[in-house]
Amino acid sequence: MTLFNVYPLYDIEPVRAQGSYLWDKNGQQYLDLYGGHAVISIGHTHPVYVRRLTQQLKNIGFYSNSVKIPSQEELADKLGKISGLKDYYLFLVNSGAEANENALKLASFYNGRKKIIAFSKGFHGRTSAAVAVTDNPAIKAPINFDDHVQILPFNDVEAVKRAIDTDTCAVIVEGIQGVGGIQVASDEFLKTIRKACDKTGAIFIHDSVQCGYGRSGKFFSFQHSGVKPDIISTAKGMGNGFPIGSILISPKFQAKHGMLGTTFGGNHLACTAANAVLDVIKKEKLVQNAATVGDYLFENLKGFSGIKELRGKGLMIGIEFEQPVEPIRNALLFDQKIFTGVAGKHTMRLLPSLALTTKEADIFLDALKKVLAKV
Ligand SMILES: Cc1ncc(COP(=O)(O)O)c(C=O)c1O
Repeated sequence: MTLFNVYPLYDIEPVRAQGSYLWDKNGQQYLDLYGGHAVISIGHTHPVYVRRLTQQLKNIGFYSNSVKIPSQEELADKLGKISGLKDYYLFLVNSGAEANENALKLASFYNGRKKIIAFSKGFHGRTSAAVAVTDNPAIKAPINFDDHVQILPFNDVEAVKRAIDTDTCAVIVEGIQGVGGIQVASDEFLKTIRKACDKTGAIFIHDSVQCGYGRSGKFFSFQHSGVKPDIISTAKGMGNGFPIGSILISPKFQAKHGMLGTTFGGNHLACTAANAVLDVIKKEKLVQNAATVGDYLFENLKGFSGIKELRGKGLMIGIEFEQPVEPIRNALLFDQKIFTGVAGKHTMRLLPSLALTTKEADIFLDALKKVLAKV
């Protein structure tokens, strides 16, 4: 058997990682400004994380959701406290797409409606309901095209006012679009969505899979705008690499046995990983660090020539270049040994660990300066 070849690969094989660094099989060190696609939140192989997961694996790795798993309650308690959403409910899943799938389903159970509003360049995952609200026809198979979905221009306040009505089941939006190129939703846009949902009984779903969990310099990016969504989806940084996702559900929803369910969601290992992540985020003040080091990167990048636009918040930064980004990314990776991400043809995406230091930021800034002088 061979692998189904869906990923273009770099000829690099990481075998070890620590903090913001990776080492390949030849011992070459790389600085990680990509965080394995916004997943590494507290740093690779953090000692607290490794210790707790190892111990948990020795005790019990898995049992189903038919028994008591106290680390689920612990996670709900910790997540409620750190996010300030203590009265929300938690439902645990395994990925971002699955979180959005359940968010959309729950919204539809709640108000019995079908019409979903989503936004241009939005990305919400590849499962059926999630991909239907994603603005990319190239990743939709014929069965995924759904005429219940209306895609509006991102950040268009007037379009939102016109489109949300009493037929609308839900509005799904990323507070900071990731795949779409680090586009930040304006305060007015999010507030208009909130208001229109309140007026019509539609559900406001905030996809925090990439922009949540401290990355923006607040625990959730919508907290910069002073709004409160009805359902919030999370994944990526939640488990620092261990697959786990969730939806945070406003108290207005009523749970019913059998309404939602999953085999693996909320298993012992996933909850142990997620609890360790929240303990480290709290103890090491990583949300504040994301804000501080993010501002530091922003301020320093402002002085660079060749940059058309800088976007983002905290450690979710988009650098749009005048020229194509691919040669810049490749030179950073192969010459300077630094991993970064991209979105589209001109935008670099920085999604490092929330524990990135200013010293590590300086290494990136120096390397980018060198690369831009050459390409
Ligand atoms: C905003 C957003 N939502 C959902 C997803 C899907 O998450 P997953 O790949 O874990 O299914 C992603 C993944 O990149 C994302 O960026």
